[in-house]
Amino acid sequence: MKKLLLALLISLPVAAADLRSGHDDLPRLTQALQDDDDANPGMLWAMQGKDLWSRPPPQNAPSCASCHGPVSIMKGVAARYPVYDETRQSAVTLMARINQCRTEFQHQSALGDEQDATLGLTAFIALQSRGLPVSVATDGPLAKIGEQGRAIFNLRQGQLDLSCADCHNDLAGKNFGGFTIPQGHPNGYPLYRQEWRRLGSLERELRNCLSRMRAASYPDNSPDLLALIVYLTQRSIGLQVETPAVRP
Ligand code: HEC
Ligand code: HEC
Repeated sequence: MKKLLLALLISLPVAAADLRSGHDDLPRLTQALQDDDDANPGMLWAMQGKDLWSRPPPQNAPSCASCHGPVSIMKGVAARYPVYDETRQSAVTLMARINQCRTEFQHQSALGDEQDATLGLTAFIALQSRGLPVSVATDGPLAKIGEQGRAIFNLRQGQLDLSCADCHNDLAGKNFGGFTIPQGHPNGYPLYRQEWRRLGSLERELRNCLSRMRAASYPDNSPDLLALIVYLTQRSIGLQVETPAVRP
């Protein structure tokens, strides 16, 4: 019984009042970079996305804009992703949804997650939701998927026998080799990491953390990875979309 109670307590999400975006734990200078659109290097990718939005792809396929119209129509979309796709019977990230339009409607090959075009388009669409509250669903099919993600978040794994929760719930705010351990929220992705010298996806950051744990990465778009992303996003409800964020 005591064990059960403890497990329940540990798995509780961070209380809403204590929610801190990764931005809040950054050194001042990095915060300033994120806050100034003229200095934020992530905007370079978003501007590539802007160009791709209206440029027709080869072979007379329709551009994003020719179907969707002005990009302002995408306001609020990134804030509610991942969504549940009935046809695929799975959660779908914004990045995967964009790739779906590229392959189905533009007859292009799918792009890899870390390619400039994917990151740029995703950042440009997410930029339309900047400042809006994260509003991913917590009911319907995403309730169960979020539960699966929460279990993964609390699972001790890898050679160090650590869970995500060990660092991002219990040690958040503490110093870790020069970094402040953030709460681990996904509300700024894709984001510019100075260490990468480029924009990167949430999936890339998760590979980073898993290697920190000496644990194996989840395959791209696997149910486990999607469940973890759904849970992370649900756990960040109360924060605003900050794409493109900047990190050291
Ligand atoms: C040993 C501690 C540790 C563990 C365990 C860990 N992380 Fe992290 N995580 C960090 C640190 C430190 C950072 C910030 C520095 C960095 O990103 O390199 C971070 C960053 C993140 C971020 C980016 C947050 C932001 O504001 O940009 C996310 C998301 C994240 N972690 C999720 C996870 C998930 C999911 C797991 C489990 C699979 C996990 N982490 C396991 C230490 C950890
Ligand atoms: C031939 C028309 C067509 C083209 C070209 C197209 N899309 Fe779509 N897109 C659609 C349709 C249809 C939907 C589904 C509408 C819905 O679900 O409400 C959709 C859905 C989306 C969504 C999800 C919207 C939501 O509310 O969940 C995003 C994001 C998106 N498209 C982005 C893009 C981007 C970026 C491009 C260019 C790379 C693009 N689309 C090209 C027709 C198109």
